[in-house]
Amino acid sequence: MEKEIKSWLECAHCAKKYEIDKIRYLCDCGGVLDVKRDLSKIDGEKLKQTWENRWGLKRGATSSGVWRYKELILDIPDEQIVTRQEGNTRMYPAGKAGEYAGLKNFLLKHEGENPTGSFKDRGMTCGTTAAKLFKASTVACASTGNTSASMASYAAISDMRSVIFIPEGKIAYGKLAQALAFGGKTLQIEGNFDDAMELVQEVCKELNIYLLNSINPFRIEGQKAIGFEVLQQLDWEVPDWFVIPGGNLGNNSALSKGLQELYELGIINKIPRIAVIQAEGANPLYRMWKNNAPYEAVKDPDTIATAIKIGNPVSWEKAIRGLKWSNGVVEQVSEQEIMDAKAMVDAAGIGAEPASCCSVAGAKKLVDAGIISPDEKVVGILTGNVLKDPDAVIGYHKDELQGKGIKGTYANAPLLIKAELEAVKEALK
Ligand code: F0G
Repeated sequence: MEKEIKSWLECAHCAKKYEIDKIRYLCDCGGVLDVKRDLSKIDGEKLKQTWENRWGLKRGATSSGVWRYKELILDIPDEQIVTRQEGNTRMYPAGKAGEYAGLKNFLLKHEGENPTGSFKDRGMTCGTTAAKLFKASTVACASTGNTSASMASYAAISDMRSVIFIPEGKIAYGKLAQALAFGGKTLQIEGNFDDAMELVQEVCKELNIYLLNSINPFRIEGQKAIGFEVLQQLDWEVPDWFVIPGGNLGNNSALSKGLQELYELGIINKIPRIAVIQAEGANPLYRMWKNNAPYEAVKDPDTIATAIKIGNPVSWEKAIRGLKWSNGVVEQVSEQEIMDAKAMVDAAGIGAEPASCCSVAGAKKLVDAGIISPDEKVVGILTGNVLKDPDAVIGYHKDELQGKGIKGTYANAPLLIKAELEAVKEALK
């Protein structure tokens, strides 16, 4: 598939190698696969200059915030790329959310500003491009919502059929709406995300459908671009920390893989620490990390941050590898902590969906614990748009989440008043 720089698939568990141009998601040993390339053939300084020259391009595949870095993503001719000019997302000073977290130098990289409103578009542009190269006509995924919204969109622009497996019960409405709107064949299954993940793997194998979950190594390659773009926005000055939510654990694995490649190429000369934040009710990585225990899935995961309601993440082994490389940490946050942090991200005028706000809730907790110092430079990744999950916002601000044990601590409730001046005066007092 890639011509100039030799690349291959390699098992993250046993290092067995496979050809890159044959469809494969797992090693014979069951381990997840990485795309590997021979970095010794790449001149880091020259590559950085190429990327700088592409910054701000108005059109073409390399104007995308993913394909700008295509040499380390998937080095193919531009005309083969399926893109919505994704990436190029803003990075905001955290404002009130920074004060809340107790950080002086806190930036929020808003991946919710991608075309379909989440970071998934970065992986999906690469995944659907690979699907096309493999001549797939149908793609599928299991999803807590954002992956399906993204996949349905990218399948639509590239004339592929998309089949979506979502867990019954709560997936955020904005995400379900997108999947339906973009024409994804949406199958709601009796079971949770982990069940859907198992089923979709079986379906793809049996029905010869291309699988676009983050178990697909090309998805991870695209998602590396979040880190690349943050670094470029910072003129390659490395922050002390990245703080990122963890669900199926693809995104943090992509972040560490990408940063490691930059480090090996000498494009950065310092290794940032990575903090992965999980919800208390869906915390297999946290348990493993905290207790120095073998991996064990969490049964019946539950959290208001439905995006990360995952008990059996496929990329846990890659996540651990990245944490070790970056001297990272794993933290967990409660439902109340997630929603209060979200209220702060929202009140700062930035806004993000609940799972995203684990970054801020987790940063605060790590500052309080003395693990992150208030002066350190921290980049929090906001993974999804505030409009993805309006129910969570309204529930919090109307203080209707008590049944889930969540108080509307910073609620901004709407008032119902008479259409009269006096009533307005009273309300504005
Ligand atoms: N934040 C949001 C908004 C997400 O949608 C997800 C994952 C994550 C964080 C966690 O990222 O899985 O790479 O650790 N959502 C997937 C989905 C599972 O189906 O949309 P991860």
